[in-house]
Amino acid sequence: MNPGRDASTDCINQQQSEPDRTGSSTMHSYGGHVNILVTGGCGFIGSNFIHYMLEKYQDVSIINLDKLTYAGNPNNLLSVEKNHGGSRYTFVRGDIADRDLVPRILAEHRPDAVINFAAESHVDRSINDPSPFITTNVLGTQNLLEAARQASIKRFVHISTDEVYGSLGAEGTFVETTPLAPNSPYSASKASSDLLARAYFKTYDFPVVVTRCSNNYGPYQFPEKLIPLLYLKAREDQPIPVYGDGLNVRDWIHVLDHCRGVDLALRRGRPGRVYNFGADGEQTNLDIVRTVLGIMGKSEDLITFVTDRPGHDRRYAMGYDRARQELDWEPRTGFEQGIAETIAWYEANEKWLENVRSGAYLQFMETWYEKRS
Ligand code: NAD
Ligand code: TYD
Repeated sequence: MNPGRDASTDCINQQQSEPDRTGSSTMHSYGGHVNILVTGGCGFIGSNFIHYMLEKYQDVSIINLDKLTYAGNPNNLLSVEKNHGGSRYTFVRGDIADRDLVPRILAEHRPDAVINFAAESHVDRSINDPSPFITTNVLGTQNLLEAARQASIKRFVHISTDEVYGSLGAEGTFVETTPLAPNSPYSASKASSDLLARAYFKTYDFPVVVTRCSNNYGPYQFPEKLIPLLYLKAREDQPIPVYGDGLNVRDWIHVLDHCRGVDLALRRGRPGRVYNFGADGEQTNLDIVRTVLGIMGKSEDLITFVTDRPGHDRRYAMGYDRARQELDWEPRTGFEQGIAETIAWYEANEKWLENVRSGAYLQFMETWYEKRS
């Protein structure tokens, strides 16, 4: 990073040009070395982001702070450890809510920026037991914000979700000015963390950018979420649990489109601003299930309607004009291509899938779905 630049307007240097999705073999430059503390980097989106950034840029290094909860999987980053461990990549096992550890990491590694992916992220688990959601998503985020402020970190990107806006009717999209109306303990905890981020900007002039994204799919997603769960069930010809009437709508986005948006928000996002990311990918859950079954050559007879999720949001759809205008971002991966690639990834990574199905995973899955059948 060029030390002389104005952190509030151009904290992170602009790259020369935009590559294709990640596959580009061309390395790009931030225009100077940038050191980023990523939290929750062993989860689904965080690990995709770390792969993306280290593959794309030659002058980015990353410290990954992850507690390794049931959802954190160091296997997601084996090739990163192998290729960049000890040089451009450092892993620290720990909790974002730890008041001693976080300031120590910031003092030791002196990152230019912090990106907060760490969270309890599954709505159903939040219904089962909200308390870890408050501890990590609310208290943990506040601890991270405070430590980063004390350390005068130049840019803090807080990763949030469309779920903070609540549920849409048949028409319209969420925009950044839509009032927050969360309906699950998960979304309530994320909305709380977004408001803390806002307060840190307003009160302390701390340069926080908040991103809100719709439902992600892609490699390394933990199989408690709809798409990998559905793949796993279909593979074994087991019933696929569809909540309620299956007509709830989500706006599915490929995880690498999200990662590219986070990178742009880091470099170009205005402090204090919220940016929505979506993919014009609205589909009912039933359509998603049918598409995946079709790709896998499995029978639709596997579809099993189960008791609805309490407080189940009916429809999400994201308006992302602000990201298009201010970040020059738009989604690039069509759902048809993205989902086919994702299923192919799961097929090619059976071992990864087997490894994440640990005892703790099975325990939650059994009790949750037992109550719904
Ligand atoms: P995930 O559950 O796959 O991963 C979460 C990661 O955070 C795990 O590696 C876990 O070990 C780590 N973690 C949890 N508590 C921690 C703590 N106290 N300290 C340090 N690390 C901790 O989640 P994900 O799907 O990758 O989501 C990442 C972020 O993106 C979350 O903030 C989530 O709210 C947000 N988001 C997710 C989606 C989606 O579709 N998955 C959409 C929009 C926004
Ligand atoms: P999920 O992947 O849990 O994401 P979110 O709740 O954050 O949107 O669920 C996506 C949709 O799929 C949501 O409407 C709930 C539904 N769903 C099912 O119908 N059955 C399932 O077993 C799961 C996990 C989700």
